[in-house]
Amino acid sequence: MASVTLNKINKVFGSTHIIKDLDLEVGNGEFVVFVGPSGCGKSTLLRLIAGLESITEGDLRIAGDLVNDLPPRERGVGMVFQSYALYPHMTVYENMAFGLKLAKTDKQSIEQRVMDTARILQLEELLHRKPKALSGGQRQRVAMGRAMAREPRILLFDEPLSNLDASLRVQMRNEIARLHHRLGSTMVYVTHDQVEAMTLADKIVVLRDGRIEQVGSPQTLYQQPATKFVAGFIGSPTMNFMPAELLGGDGQGCKIQAPGLGELVLPQDPGGEPSGAGLTLGVRPEHLRLAEAEGDNAFEIVNVEYLGNEVYVYLEPKASDTLLIHRSEAPSRWAIGQRVALVPELEHVHLFDGQDRALALAGQRRAA
Ligand SMILES: Nc1ncnc2c1ncn2[C@@H]1O[C@H](COP(=O)(O)OP(=O)(O)O)[C@@H](O)[C@H]1O
Ligand SMILES: [Mg+2]
Repeated sequence: MASVTLNKINKVFGSTHIIKDLDLEVGNGEFVVFVGPSGCGKSTLLRLIAGLESITEGDLRIAGDLVNDLPPRERGVGMVFQSYALYPHMTVYENMAFGLKLAKTDKQSIEQRVMDTARILQLEELLHRKPKALSGGQRQRVAMGRAMAREPRILLFDEPLSNLDASLRVQMRNEIARLHHRLGSTMVYVTHDQVEAMTLADKIVVLRDGRIEQVGSPQTLYQQPATKFVAGFIGSPTMNFMPAELLGGDGQGCKIQAPGLGELVLPQDPGGEPSGAGLTLGVRPEHLRLAEAEGDNAFEIVNVEYLGNEVYVYLEPKASDTLLIHRSEAPSRWAIGQRVALVPELEHVHLFDGQDRALALAGQRRAA
């Protein structure tokens, strides 16, 4: 177990600046997830921590010690990749023992550690099999075992579940969460899947274009996204956005107008900064209520998706073709072709300024 501290970390490939002045603290025993769209620098950041890429600028510390120039083997990190990259000609046991042999661990300790790890990961019955005789989930577990057998101070995962089918992904996600709970080891986990991030993380780091967009607990990111990007990235179906205009504010709240919603008085603090137009209103699908309506402000229901336990209703505003989504528990009384009014739950409405930063609730400071 160890903490990881990143201080003004930069990575440049040739003339491309990939990681930009990144500061981050991963606490001892914490499960931290890097999430963000493809190409935002997640794998690069993980490889910098592992020592598989050199740091262009900045300090990287593990357990307080500067490790910028330490080779991967001496950093005490274990890494699990998306492609399991098991040695096909070796048994499960040999795959898990291999790194320890290279590190010149004595035979008895190797056996002890492989058997301990196999027990934790429920691989005891499979130790004599070769990878080709294993299922996808079992292979992924062996890849984890190989990293864990070396008893690293930090376990790093790069999209370890991406190659598995949906149901196995859910099962392995659950296993990794329980593993973390039992071992209490520091884990850093990369994924582009916000559901994995939400379900696994103590702390989520949302990356965008080589910078941190927001760091926080899953609940914080869901309830208080600091930017429109985070608001749209976390949560499924995604948050509804629409343009809004500020009509007035007094530090206790503000009055806004949004197409189809009319005038709303929100508890957000406009802070005197945003001027009139250019605001975006955000509201999650579960924070909208529908009511039967006619007239200019009515939305048309263009699709209804029944998922068993819940229902998604797709709504088309009169003046735009950007669909909004309403989500409720099943059964639903709504049907295609009906015309409805939208009533957002005011305490759950988010407002973003012209730079897409969230406006603080009245009495609070800006979160970003
Ligand atoms: N070895 C490399 N040389 C040049 N560019 C690279 C190299 N590795 C990654 N990149 C670039 O860095 C960016 C971030 O890549 P990566 O960290 O793999 O993103 P992610 O894992 O978030 O999808 C991408 O634009 C990618 O093309
Ligand atoms: Mg990647």
